[in-house]
Amino acid sequence: MKQEKWSSEFGFLMAAAGSAVGLGNIWKFPYIAGQNGGAVFIIIYLLLMLVLGVPVLLSEMAIGRSTGKNPVDACRAISKKCGFIGGFGIMGAFVILAYYCVIGGWIIKYLTSFLLGSRIDSAAEYFSDFTSGSVSPLIYALVFIAVCGTIVLRGVSGGIEKISRIFMPALIFMMLLLIVKALTLEGGADGIKFFLLPDFSHISSIGDFFRILINAMGQVFFSLSLGMGTLITYGAYLDKSASMTRAAVYIPMIDFVIALLAGLMVLPAVFAYDIPPQAGSGMIFIALPQVFGEISGGRIFGAVFFLLVLFAAITSAISLLEVLISFVVQKTGIGRKISAAVCSLAVFAAGIPVSLSFGRWSGISLFGMNFFDLMNFISDNLLMPLGALGICLLCGYIWGAKSVADEADIKSGASRALYRIVIRYAAPVMIAVIFVTTLLGL
Ligand code: TRP
Repeated sequence: MKQEKWSSEFGFLMAAAGSAVGLGNIWKFPYIAGQNGGAVFIIIYLLLMLVLGVPVLLSEMAIGRSTGKNPVDACRAISKKCGFIGGFGIMGAFVILAYYCVIGGWIIKYLTSFLLGSRIDSAAEYFSDFTSGSVSPLIYALVFIAVCGTIVLRGVSGGIEKISRIFMPALIFMMLLLIVKALTLEGGADGIKFFLLPDFSHISSIGDFFRILINAMGQVFFSLSLGMGTLITYGAYLDKSASMTRAAVYIPMIDFVIALLAGLMVLPAVFAYDIPPQAGSGMIFIALPQVFGEISGGRIFGAVFFLLVLFAAITSAISLLEVLISFVVQKTGIGRKISAAVCSLAVFAAGIPVSLSFGRWSGISLFGMNFFDLMNFISDNLLMPLGALGICLLCGYIWGAKSVADEADIKSGASRALYRIVIRYAAPVMIAVIFVTTLLGL
């Protein structure tokens, strides 16, 4: 089969960073941090990113490049019995996309609202009126997934690289402007305090501690696009001469900076407008329109901002969709076009109950969660940790830490030793402990 290639190492970096930077940074990070104690969460998040995120990131890229295959076949190429590890990835990509397309649809809705100058008098009401509808949010979700499907159809490298190069700096610039504005809001400083000054009273019991740990781990994997085979798929298109260690430094750095900026932009507004920090998935949609409302020319600002967020969401969603589509193509031999159409439609179908869970189906719950929470739980707390644990064991014990370090071009003796310890012992034990605690808490 003809294999696509990235045009350069920089192109790969941009695409991998484009996959990492998405709704996870801008929409999810601020509200998850809000629900889990602000600064305390950020400290734990950073630690887990270094100890779990970076080594798993390196391992996934190495598996992809050395085998050049889709996640299932790549894992199978290393060990015949281990295809199921890649299988977690395929399932996970599907589950994530099911709710990603719903939130992506919300972003398109807000983009069009600002473009058309719709009046948003009460942001909270506007948000709940829209999301609780049965038909309109679904149409937006369908538009989102259709756009992504169309982009993936045109191949992975060209378009993504070009878009990421422009939108990422623009997004950072826009967020800096909004942070300056947010800081001038009355009461905004409290948001910064909450976000940056650790208040350990948020951890009043061991249960709290584990809850924060579980959520931080899920967010690390989600935000870095780990455990789902995305980086195996992208690594497979990577040239032998490119440096993986550089990628493993830059990707987490860019990802973290953007999440941090998003928090600094949103939480002051949350405090200034008396929105509870536990507001959940609607946080940015309720807080930001109020900020735009106070800026002259806020309508344009709002439109540009949501357009940039939409780009970020699309570059992430296509990385997930690419996992599904290339798997279906390689497994069934059907063409990319049909595969793209089938996968996009299947994702949309799975998005229907998620969207309805904000309205008509909000009363329906399984294991005490509505469909949206359930999908989040399955991806962040079950499939991603299992996928990442599988990757650690596969790389640490079967393929061997030495071979991975060679493929990933880790040179210094100290880094190689550290990688070996982390991938064989530290990471698997931590993931296993957090995972078991999650199951006990169910
Ligand atoms: N990292 C993306 C975000 O933050 C989401 C994402 C894209 C993802 N590809 C992934 C998450 C693969 C897990 C696995 O929005």
